[in-house]
Amino acid sequence: MKTVVITGSARGLGLCMAKRFRQKNFNVVISDIKEEMLIKAYEEILSMEGKGKVSYCICDVTKTTDISELINFAINEYKTIDIWINNAGVNQTDKALWELSEKEINLILNVDLKATIISSKLIMGEMIKWNKGAIYNIEGYGSNDAMMLGLNMYGTSKKAVTHFTKALAKESEEKNTGVIVGRLSPGIMITDFITTAGNGEKINLPEKTKKVYNILGDYPDVIANFLVNKMINNKKITCK
Ligand SMILES: NC(=O)c1ccc[n+]([C@@H]2O[C@H](COP(=O)([O-])OP(=O)(O)OC[C@H]3O[C@@H](n4cnc5c(N)ncnc54)[C@H](O)[C@@H]3O)[C@@H](O)[C@H]2O)c1
Repeated sequence: MKTVVITGSARGLGLCMAKRFRQKNFNVVISDIKEEMLIKAYEEILSMEGKGKVSYCICDVTKTTDISELINFAINEYKTIDIWINNAGVNQTDKALWELSEKEINLILNVDLKATIISSKLIMGEMIKWNKGAIYNIEGYGSNDAMMLGLNMYGTSKKAVTHFTKALAKESEEKNTGVIVGRLSPGIMITDFITTAGNGEKINLPEKTKKVYNILGDYPDVIANFLVNKMINNKKITCK
């Protein structure tokens, strides 16, 4: 039975992907910084049909010790990890760079970029020993160079995640690790993410943006089903 670990999976896309993996009979490890929401998500997934086991582990991805503990927890429970998804993310308030506090800048860069780098480094170290496994990182607004007022720090992080993941895929291929490295591009999804920033502040979406979200926005379960099927069927060593 295969095992998947997903960061930031107490709600939104992460939770929807976890549910889909459960339906596909994976062992599923969900994790999040928010304990109460995580336990509720765990109970929800556990009540669904599925042959694998379900576990949860609290993990703040901005803390390296938490990431290490999540990896050790999953290995202790399931021996190896087949798919690791760096999904945890935070949005920024709708402000220009000079209106953001340094604290908010740090939060966005730490969750959206640094955590993806550190988690990838640590889990890669384990997967290399097994000579198998797959790491997926989530792209977002900015990955394709799009720019918009109020999304500078988020876009900067996601653009960097794209470069980082492509570069890691190349390293993995050249070093013959046997580990798949890929990017997931969910597009616009109607989740709490688009209305609430990582610091808890409400995001005031301009009318123009609301219209775009209404037309282009998808439900996270629809996107999750698509992405999970792609991951399960992906056999390419690197996924550029
Ligand atoms: N919603 C969109 O339109 C959209 C579009 C493109 C990409 N994305 C990306 O998809 C991913 C999931 O987004 P979502 O819409 O499901 O968001 P969401 O806000 O619904 O879920 C994000 C989860 O990450 C968790 N999280 C935040 N900080 C954390 C931390 N320090 N440690 C651990 N967990 C933490 C939150 O508690 C939450 O459960 C993110 O990487 C996001 O950037 C979202």
